[in-house]
Amino acid sequence: MTSYTPAEPLAIEAEGLVKVFGEQRAVDGVSLAVPRGAVYGVLGPNGAGKTTTIRMLATLLRPDGGSARIFGRDVLTEPTAVRSLIGVTGQYASVDEKLTATENLVIFSRLLGLSKSDARRKSAELLEEFGLTEAAAKPLENFSGGMRRRLDLAASLIARPPLLFLDEPTTGLDPRTRSQMWDTIRRLVREGSTVMLTTQYLDEADQLADRIAVIDRGKVIADGTSNELKASVGLSALQLTLTDRDRIDEARILVSEFLSRAEGKIVDATISPEAGRITAPLPDPSITTDILIRLRENDIRVDEINVAKPSLDEVFFALTGHAAEDDTDTEESAA
Ligand SMILES: Nc1ncnc2c1ncn2[C@@H]1O[C@H](COP(=O)(O)OP(=O)(O)O)[C@@H](O)[C@H]1O
Ligand SMILES: [Mg+2]
Repeated sequence: MTSYTPAEPLAIEAEGLVKVFGEQRAVDGVSLAVPRGAVYGVLGPNGAGKTTTIRMLATLLRPDGGSARIFGRDVLTEPTAVRSLIGVTGQYASVDEKLTATENLVIFSRLLGLSKSDARRKSAELLEEFGLTEAAAKPLENFSGGMRRRLDLAASLIARPPLLFLDEPTTGLDPRTRSQMWDTIRRLVREGSTVMLTTQYLDEADQLADRIAVIDRGKVIADGTSNELKASVGLSALQLTLTDRDRIDEARILVSEFLSRAEGKIVDATISPEAGRITAPLPDPSITTDILIRLRENDIRVDEINVAKPSLDEVFFALTGHAAEDDTDTEESAA
């Protein structure tokens, strides 16, 4: 962990959080240290325990074990103080479908104690900020998924809490709305907020999060910056494009055989369908030369060669033995 001054407590400090549902340890000893003023990503597949962790940190669910502090305030003994420091958005937003966007925000604002005129002004500001001005007078039932998500985030910002929990803010969004959401999150952090965000998307964690905790089956299995995670699994990837595309499968087999022999275990090179490129894990980049010689001996000419750091996908696979993203991409998997 990086150092910090005790006088400035971390945004989140959790030790050994546990939540048991029946027989299942949904969260099984999660410890986190989230510094202020950054995006902290919690990356894990469906059912990993992300939402349950957030709900415990946000005082919405009582832990069965462990402890957590938000800016130094204990979630169990000082829940009111904690609630004044946080905003939560995500899979359990409570908004009224029949009311308009403006009405929903005004109600939220009034609940938070703003005067009538302040509530109106704040709501209009937020709707503008999130590109919802034109939709302000429409009832929510006519809103798209992306508009709902933005309204949800807008509602959580009425009180401008220093810490925001965003639970899968972009799951199921189209790419354009997703990148708008990313911009908004980056801006919030620039303005001083701390964001903890859960995601199933490796590219989202990679691009948005300053630090990442990888969570699987209720446990944090790795944490660090994206680069640290990549370095920790110690893999590089070899990528090859051939001059003669027709020989790609032959080349793939040669590369696989070569690497398997070099490492004394089965190594599979794969072919990426879109790019017609061979990709193989490469524990030792200096072996690349030998692979190229081997291909030349077989008259297979290489057009392009690249030795890259592993993707977060590969890191996740190396850490857990299974892929991170399911192919099902539902929004309704909420607990
Ligand atoms: N209220 C609950 N009752 C019983 N099981 C639950 C409840 N909430 C979550 N779970 C289970 O706990 C595990 C973790 O769930 P969750 O925290 O929602 O994961 P994630 O948000 O990472 O998808 C899942 O197996 C889920 O089915
Ligand atoms: Mg969840």
